[in-house]
This record gives sequence, structure tokens and C-alpha cells, in this order.
Amino acid sequence: MKAQILKSFGSPDSFELCEVPKPVPHTGQVLVRVHATSINPLDYQVRRGDYADLVPLPAITGHDVSGVVEAIGPGVTNFAPGDEVWYTPQIFDGPGSYAEYHVAAENIVAKKPLSLSHLEAASLSLVGGTAWEALTVRAALRVGESILIHGGAGGVGHVAIQLAKAIGAKVFTTVREANAEFVKRMGADVIIDYEKEDYVDAIMRETAGRGVDVVFDTLGGNTLSRSPDALAQMGRVVSIVDISQPQNLVQAWGKNASYHFVFTRQNRGKLDELSSLVVQGQLRPHVGAVYALADIGLAHARLESRNNGVQGKIAIAVAPIEGATP
Ligand SMILES: NC(=O)c1ccc[n+]([C@@H]2O[C@H](COP(=O)([O-])OP(=O)(O)OC[C@H]3O[C@@H](n4cnc5c(N)ncnc54)[C@H](OP(=O)(O)O)[C@@H]3O)[C@@H](O)[C@H]2O)c1
Repeated sequence: MKAQILKSFGSPDSFELCEVPKPVPHTGQVLVRVHATSINPLDYQVRRGDYADLVPLPAITGHDVSGVVEAIGPGVTNFAPGDEVWYTPQIFDGPGSYAEYHVAAENIVAKKPLSLSHLEAASLSLVGGTAWEALTVRAALRVGESILIHGGAGGVGHVAIQLAKAIGAKVFTTVREANAEFVKRMGADVIIDYEKEDYVDAIMRETAGRGVDVVFDTLGGNTLSRSPDALAQMGRVVSIVDISQPQNLVQAWGKNASYHFVFTRQNRGKLDELSSLVVQGQLRPHVGAVYALADIGLAHARLESRNNGVQGKIAIAVAPIEGATP
């Protein structure tokens, strides 16, 4: 099979499209013909060597799969050849999804919602699982509450907006002006142009000084530090980004705030919850750009650059399928 192999850590040119042996499913595993994958910041962080200790080279990386079961290993009961499936491969534990075939333990694999294309499903598994865990499990966001979602036009952000609206919350989000219309379509109630206005000032104005119940931090650093300023008393902060600096939590203490940190975990249950929302018409990932597997470096370079014009996700067509315009 063809696979993009990362032979050394570095620039987006570090991948090489190679012919490698097709994997074989063992007990409890399924072999999936990968139709699509997508790009996440984790992908370029891995490629740069940010997690060099956890990724032995050469490596097949990539963290989303949508495809079709080709074969099953002994003991597999939930899937049969021909099933359309989607999942996030185990992170830092075995080969990733930049390949024509992938093997996974059946307990992290789910049936793909039929109304999503492979490109769409591959654009939802990792970001959707992360946003689901952050909002429903950690923040326990409830109907009638308010939430600030940073980076609303990004991969995680545009899905988080839809999840928060499905829960029944009021959504505030930060974007640059060019993405205002997009996040409005995703369901955002209050759109803050982070280039023109300080988001804490905007939140305090829009909430008459109360603050929001939940801050969903997709940016880290100073944004995480300032979260208590935008938070209501007893508010919750959920961050999905590494803490890159020492944090002064005095204001968080004053707000009786609780903090949660999410590193996404794989399981079928989360994917099935997302599927239900897709079927109910409350959730749909937005594919902002599509590249071919052969052009993985170009896709990395695009996502890695700021103000890259991508709304939602960059998907990768692995099999020659619908919508591929490399
Ligand atoms: N812990 C986990 O399990 C987990 C899972 C998924 C993602 N993550 C992390 O979460 C972060 C976001 O991931 P993603 O997939 O959403 O990335 P993404 O698709 O690149 O989106 C990031 C968004 O943030 C926007 N942005 C940048 N600076 C901003 C600012 N100051 N204010 C408001 N928006 C800003 C960007 O837009 P512009 O450039 O146009 O401003 C872009 O729309 C990454 O650091 C990723 O590693 C963690």
C-alpha cells in the first residue's frame, strides 16, 4: 500500500510517499481501507518533533480515519467487511492514518453516519471527540448557560459551537472579521472580532459584567491566563492546549473557578454520541479545503500558517473519492 512516511522531524517536506506492506488485523482488530483523513495541529506538532520522545521514526502519522472495513481479525463481533467506519487511531501508539490501509482495535471504531461523506467524517472524529469531552463531560455545559469558545472558525471551534448550541447554551466566540459570517452559520450568538476588540471587554459588556459560565480555551498561553477575567462566579474553564507559561491563578481563586484539561481519548461511545447529533441535523463538520495524500506537506504548511483562509477543517482524500481538488 501507499503511505506517507515521516523519516525525520522537521519541515512539511519531511514526508515521503512510499510503498509499504499492507497491515494484517490480529485478534480484536479491523483492517480499514482508508478513504479520507484530515489534518490537525497535532499532526504538524508531531512532524516538527514536539513529541519526539513518543514517536519512533520512521513513522506513519495522522489522527483521523474514515473508510470501509476490508477484513476483520479473530474475535471481532461488531463489524463486517463492507461496513463504513470512522475513528481516531490511538495517539502515540502505533501507525496513523496517512496510508491506504489502517488497522485498529474494534473498540475505538464506530459505524460512520451515512449522511456524512468520508471527507466529512474524517474531519470530525478527533475534533468532535475533543469538543464533546470538553463541553459535555468536563464543563458539564447545561441548557441556558453561556460559553466563550475561542477560535470559533477552527477545526475544534466550529464543532464546539454546534455542540454548545445543541446543548442549549448561549455561545460567544472569538474570530477574525473574515470568519464572522461562517461562525454565525455554525450558530454563534455573539461574535467577537479579536483583532478589533479585547474579548474580556466584549464579554463583560454583553453580560452586564457577569461573565460567562464556561470558557473553552483552544489557544492556551495568555488566553488561558486571562480566562478568569471573562468568567462568572463558580465558572468552569476547559483547556485543550499545553500550558506554555507559569499561570497566576489568583483571579481564578476569586471566582471559585474550576479548571479542566482535556487530552482526547479514543472510544466508540463518543463517536456514537456525535453520530446521533449528525443524524438529528444538529452537527455537521465543515471541510474548508481538500488535498490528496500525495500533497500532505502542502496541507501541513497551510494549516500551520496563521490566517490561512481555512474555515473548519483540511481533509485529505486518500482513496480517489468525492470532492478531491488537490
Ligand atoms: N487536547 C486535545 O486533545 C486537543 C485536541 C484537538 C486540538 N487540540 C489543540 O487545540 C488547538 C486548536 O486546534 P484546532 O484543530 O481547532 O486548530 P485550527 O483548526 O488551526 O484552528 C485554530 C483557530 O484559532 C484561530 N485563532 C488563532 N489565534 C486566535 C486568537 N488570538 N483569538 C481567536 N482565534 C484565534 C485561528 O484563526 P486565524 O489564524 O484565522 O486567526 C483558527 O481558526 C491546537 O493547539 C490543537 O493542538 C488539542
